[in-house]
Amino acid sequence: MARVSIIGTGYVGLTTGACFAHLGHDVTCIDIDREKIARLREGDVPIYEPGLNELIDTNVREGRLHFSDDYTDGLRDAEIVYLAVGTPTAPDGKSADLKYVYAAAASVARALNSPAIVVNKSTSPVGTATAVARILDAERPEFAPWRVASNPEFLQEGSAVHDCLNPARVVIGASDPESADHVASLYDGMTCPIVTTDLNTAEMIKYASNAFLATRISFVNEVARIADALDADIKTVTYGMGLDPRIGPAFLNAGLGYGGSCFPKDVLALAHMGASAGIEPLLLESVTQVNSDQRRWVVERISEELGGLAGRTIGLWGLTFKPNTDDVREAPALDIARQLADRGATIRAYDPMGGQHARNLGFPGVVTASPYDTASGADALLLATEWDEFLTVDWNRVAYRMRGSLVFDGRNRLDAEEIARSGLRYVGIGRRTVEPSTDAEEISA
Ligand code: UDX
Repeated sequence: MARVSIIGTGYVGLTTGACFAHLGHDVTCIDIDREKIARLREGDVPIYEPGLNELIDTNVREGRLHFSDDYTDGLRDAEIVYLAVGTPTAPDGKSADLKYVYAAAASVARALNSPAIVVNKSTSPVGTATAVARILDAERPEFAPWRVASNPEFLQEGSAVHDCLNPARVVIGASDPESADHVASLYDGMTCPIVTTDLNTAEMIKYASNAFLATRISFVNEVARIADALDADIKTVTYGMGLDPRIGPAFLNAGLGYGGSCFPKDVLALAHMGASAGIEPLLLESVTQVNSDQRRWVVERISEELGGLAGRTIGLWGLTFKPNTDDVREAPALDIARQLADRGATIRAYDPMGGQHARNLGFPGVVTASPYDTASGADALLLATEWDEFLTVDWNRVAYRMRGSLVFDGRNRLDAEEIARSGLRYVGIGRRTVEPSTDAEEISA
């Protein structure tokens, strides 16, 4: 059992803290946001993540998980301190802004009563852990040389707790082998491979992994557009591709492009690191470009189908960047809604979790109370986020409410035949259009 403190109570910090507590460690999660800590102490978890509430509750009750808004108090006798603070894109629009990581490192150094290993979990450019060590050395020379590590997080939002407890691998880069072993011991009991390496390599593994996954998505989206133009079916194409074990089936779903707090900024940051090192990041820049083009392409396709967007009403199903999260950061749905609204369309939307967050970000439309309300009077429906709730709707009810007949499946997850049977027209991403079935036309006639 180790004494672990975690700075930052965002998705990564909270989930990591709860999972380490679950593994038996004594964990204190620290955040300078007093209100957030007060809420957490009362059992009010500020983010929606399946299973997280329960995991926090249990570990708080069993005395292994604590919250503090005070560094000195929260770091007392800590052996290992994790930095899990945000690394947003800097004002230059490319690099990662490390001000929160560096500020947290300096605060940790000042507050610790004895030396600890400082581990960075925030996704930050190659060289960050070394820079953190320099900050620690400068702030508290009496504890120098500080021991540091990089232990990147690979959890996905929406399945964060599961991913944290069942990782495919754990990556630990460290300043020295003893620190690597100490950090690795936090994961005792887990059966996955543990990759121990140097600091820079660990940091690079995280960026390369995310950028590779984003590349797969942009690749498949570009191929989907080609499939659309050449009358091939992308779903069958990717199924056929994925059976090759060198390719594999994961992360090959064509859609609206990737969003969220990681892929967009990580691809930009890796490209920036390359460019700063004199390596032209041709592929990475295209990955970002294809991703934004995908959103424009979808808007254009809807416009083509409707014969223009001005005066049209579009029902948008889903606002979060993916299902099972309330996170709307960089959500394709919001970007597409803005583009549709700019071209004169009226937007009605529904999302099981993200409505309020979307409103806070200036969502340009009405957030309704159900998928059926969203369909009311709509010329077209766009499935933007594949929440289960949308995959199980009663299509006859939807058809009855709509003014027009276009269903645009932005995630290739809806049942085209069922939609056609209810008298609606199915259009997917890189898929064949399915016209309303004759029976349905006869019924509506
Ligand atoms: C990602 C990484 O998966 C995770 O390992 C890392 O720690 C953080 O970044 P996350 O941002 O939670 O996790 O989302 P993820 O599930 O990976 O999806 C990212 C985006 O890609 C979503 O917008 C999703 O809709 C999109 N996506 C994913 C596709 O468009 N097609 C796919 O096949 C898969």
